[in-house]
Formats: sequence, structure tokens, C-alpha cells
Amino acid sequence: MRARISPAQITAAVNCLKQGDLVAMPTETVYGLAADASNPTAVQKIFAVKGRPTHHPLIVHLADLDQLTLWAREIPDAAWQLAQQFWPGPMTLILKKQAQVLTAVTGGQDTVGVRIPSHPIAQHLLRAFGGGLAAPSANRFGYISPTSAQHVRSDLGDKVAMILEGGPCSLGIESTIIDCRSDNISMLRPGTITATDMLATLGIRCAVPAPHALSIPQVSGALPSHYAPRTTTHLFSAEKIDAYLQMRAPAVKNIIILSTRKPTVQAVRIYEARIPYHRPAALEDAAVHWMIMPADPEGYAHHLYEQLHIADQLCGAEIWIEMVPNTEAWRGIMDRITKASARM
Ligand code: TXA
Ligand code: MG
Repeated sequence: MRARISPAQITAAVNCLKQGDLVAMPTETVYGLAADASNPTAVQKIFAVKGRPTHHPLIVHLADLDQLTLWAREIPDAAWQLAQQFWPGPMTLILKKQAQVLTAVTGGQDTVGVRIPSHPIAQHLLRAFGGGLAAPSANRFGYISPTSAQHVRSDLGDKVAMILEGGPCSLGIESTIIDCRSDNISMLRPGTITATDMLATLGIRCAVPAPHALSIPQVSGALPSHYAPRTTTHLFSAEKIDAYLQMRAPAVKNIIILSTRKPTVQAVRIYEARIPYHRPAALEDAAVHWMIMPADPEGYAHHLYEQLHIADQLCGAEIWIEMVPNTEAWRGIMDRITKASARM
């Protein structure tokens, strides 16, 4: 299994972090670009390498719930319950920060985002390191998040001291972010843990603001264009895709489509592929590359960024993403594909 890592690699990674260098670490959501959260110079490097605006706060990753009160204060009861239920796992809590948390980490806010990841390598690294690791997704600002070590290598390459190979991320989209400054909690970024999960397991009600109702500087993922390929990307309904293909049939060339169904339009030459998609050498003149995505939200999330990376590398004219169901289970995915296709 590729996720195995030697104790010597963990020691080397810890040494890098202690020296103030950056280490890319696998998590169950996406790969993170980690720095010692208590070293301001190291944290600055994250912003420099990502090209990320400095007022965008970073998530502090911890090994263990025992460390939470070192970073956060006045933790409401709801937050403790969520922490016990869903950590380690794909959930970030926004809490009031302790005084010593660096301004560079919080973007100057009075709050700190905290997460305990479950990926065994992230856990191993965090335990060996002992402190908090500030880690955004390990991609250049605005680009598609990495779900494999290869994505990190091709996007950030030698700007990172070390990349820990942890195989493909099991979940594939970023953590659910919950504003827990008080017991009136609300969701700032949808992910695989839903409001229904919180209600069903703990009886806790989490408000879910409508998309775009969020104040932009708080969550950089709330900017209209984010998680975006370089290729122009559009979000379309299934009907619109079929109508466009039919209407523009002779002119359509090199369109890459992500859809959960099989193509139905006959008018254009469609290369249909199960994922993971690999472009056959003899496909230069295909009008449409049709990537059939999994029809369940878990499978779709797992493959989404991988497929967007592949679609972007195909250098097609455009990427068209077919809308997914407007239900809670798909909310995290709908959020990411909407942002991937938005243009500022
Ligand atoms: O799954 C994840 O959350 C991944 C892995 C690496 O843990 N991390 C991740 O980090 O997605 P990043 O930086 O790409 O997105 C974190 C989001 C940002 O939109 C940031 O604005 C928000 O969390 N955030 C962090 N601290 C915050 C705070 N104190 N208040 C509000 N939002 C905060
Ligand atoms: Mg990110």
C-alpha cells in the first residue's frame, strides 16, 4: 500500500518543520501544505509559495483533542460535542483563539480554525511533531486542490522541502467548516459531514447559509472563483449540454465534459471514458471527451479534483461540468463545481 511511510521519513519531515520549512502532507480530504503554526517565518512561507493573500486565515491541524485548549478558548458545548463525534475527521471548527496564536495564522481575526485529521500519515506526523501545523490545501491560490502527491509535485514542485506520499485522498474534497464561536453554530463551507449528520448523531442544529451569503474574507473558498482549472470551465444542466452539443455539432471541438450519465447526443463524435480517464494517443480530433463520473456523492467527491486535474491537462477548449443533484448529500460537491466554474 502506497500510504506506508518509514519512520525515517517522518523524522526527516519533523526536522524540516522544526527548521521552518514546508512539508506537504496527505490528509483524508486533500493534501495540505504544512508549516509549524507557532513559527511566523514558516507560516509566511505558506503564503509566499501559494501566492495566497495574507488576510486569508489558515487551519491549524492537531494530533489530539487534548491540545485544543492551547489554541482555542471559550469553547462552546456544541463544539466539544462535535469534536468528540467527528474528530479525527473532515471537520474544521472556527473558535475564539488563544492570545498566542499568530496573527499570520488567523489573518488578524480573533478566531482560529482547528482540525484533527484522520489520515494515518497526518496523524503520525502530527504526533511526532508535537505541536500545531498550519496547513492550507497544497495548491497555488485559486487552483484545483491536490488529492495526490503527484498533484502537489506538479503544482508546487521544488518550492516544498518535502512531499509525503500518502496515496490518493479517500474523501477528495476539503473539510466541512463550522463557525463555533457560540452555541449557535453555522456552516461556512460544506463538506462530507452534513448538517443532517450533526442533527442525527448529536441533536445539534447547524445553520446552513445560502451560497454567496458568506462574508468573503472569512473563508477564501467563499470567493466566487476558486478550486478552478486554467481551462475555461462552465457549469451546465444536462438539458443544456445536450442542446448545445446538438446545436453546435459541427463546430464543437475538444470539449471535456464531466457527467454522471452516458452521452445521449449522436450528432458529435464523443469519446466516452470511465474514470480515471486516460487520454488515448489517437484521440486528437475527438470533439468531446466525456468523463463518466460516479453517480454517488462519495465516489464523485473522491474523483472530482483528480478528474479536473486530468481535464485541465488535456488542454481542451473548454471544460463543461454537468450540474449535480440539488440535495444535501451533494452540497459540498455543488459548492466546489460552482466555484471551479465561476469567473471573476
Ligand atoms: O480539508 C481541509 O480543510 C484542508 C486540509 C489540508 O486540512 N485544508 C484546507 O485549507 O482546505 P484551505 O486553507 O485551503 O481552506 C481553509 C479555509 C479557508 O477558506 C479559510 O479562509 C478558512 O478555512 N478559515 C481558516 N481559519 C478561519 C477562521 N479563523 N475564520 C474563518 N475561516 C477560516
Ligand atoms: Mg484551499
